[in-house]
Amino acid sequence: MILKGVNVMITGAAGGIGRHIAGAFASRGANLSLVDMSEESLAPVLEMAKEKGVSAVPVVADITKDEDIERAVRETEVELGSVGVLVNNAGIMPFKTAIDHSPGEIMATLMVNVYGPMRLTQTVLPGMIKSGSGRVVNIGSTFGSLAFPYFSVYSATKSAMRSFSEALRRELQEVKGVGVTYVAPRAVRSTQPPVFFEMAKKMKMSLDEPTKVASVIVRAVEKEESEVYLGGSEKLFMFINKIKPTMVDGGLKKQIEIMKEYSPKMQKK
Ligand SMILES: NC(=O)c1ccc[n+]([C@@H]2O[C@H](COP(=O)([O-])OP(=O)(O)OC[C@H]3O[C@@H](n4cnc5c(N)ncnc54)[C@H](O)[C@@H]3O)[C@@H](O)[C@H]2O)c1
Repeated sequence: MILKGVNVMITGAAGGIGRHIAGAFASRGANLSLVDMSEESLAPVLEMAKEKGVSAVPVVADITKDEDIERAVRETEVELGSVGVLVNNAGIMPFKTAIDHSPGEIMATLMVNVYGPMRLTQTVLPGMIKSGSGRVVNIGSTFGSLAFPYFSVYSATKSAMRSFSEALRRELQEVKGVGVTYVAPRAVRSTQPPVFFEMAKKMKMSLDEPTKVASVIVRAVEKEESEVYLGGSEKLFMFINKIKPTMVDGGLKKQIEIMKEYSPKMQKK
C-alpha cells in the first residue's frame, strides 16, 4: 500500500506510541486524523505533522462513546476525506491481580481496548470496501497470545483483538484492496511511571523504543502484512505457550514474585 496522500486515523495519537506512529506515517506523506481525549495532549503531535508538511486534524473523542466515534469519522471526512487506514492504538493497561480489578476498571479496559476499536472498524470499513482500498490496523500485545499474570483483564482484551483481527481478515479475503493488520508489540518504553521501568529491569524485561515499534507498524501496512509480532524470545515463549502452556506457568514463577512486590507501588503512580 502506498501511503502518500492517504488519510490515516490514529486513536491514542497523543500517547507514548501513538505520537510516534503519527510521526512515522507523516514521514511517508500520509495525512493524519489524530484522535485522543484532549486538545492539549494532541497539540505537539499536530505541530510535528505541520513540520513534516502533511495535513492533520486533531479530533478530541472518547472512543468508548458511539456518538464520539461517529463524530470523529465525520470530522475526519470533512477535513481530510475518507479514512484510508485506521490504526486502533488507544489502550489502557491495568496492572494488578485479577481479584483487585474494580468493576469500573474491567469495564473501562474492555471498552477502550475492545469495544471502541470494533465500533470504529464498523464505522470506517464500509467506505474502505466501497472505494476498494483501506486497512484496519489493530495494536495488540505479546500478552494477547501469552496471557500474563497481573495483566489478566488487559491480556484478555488483547486476545480478543487478535481474534477479531483474524476473523475480519478472513471475512475480507474476497475484498480486493482492503485488509487487516494485527501488530503485537512486546514491552515498549512509553508513558509508564518510573516504578514500572524499575520493575522491568528486575524482571530482565526487554523493552523496545516506541520509534522502532512505530516504524514496524508503518512497514507492516506498506507491505500489507496480516500479523506482526515483535521480539525473538517472546515469539519463542508464545510458541511454547501454544503447545504446552503449563510449561510457561512454571517459567513465570520468579517474575510473579517481582510483580507481587511492585503491584502496590504501581497503583500509587
Ligand atoms: N507500552 C507498552 O509496553 C505496550 C506494549 C504492547 C502493546 N501496547 C499497546 O500499544 C498501544 C499504545 O500504548 P501506549 O504505551 O502508547 O499507551 P499510552 O497510555 O501512552 O497512550 C494511550 C493513549 O490512548 C488514549 N486513550 C485512552 N483512552 C481513550 C479513549 N477512551 N478514547 C480516546 N483515546 C484514549 C490516552 O489518552 C493516551 O494518549 C495500546 O493499545 C497498548 O495496549 C503497549
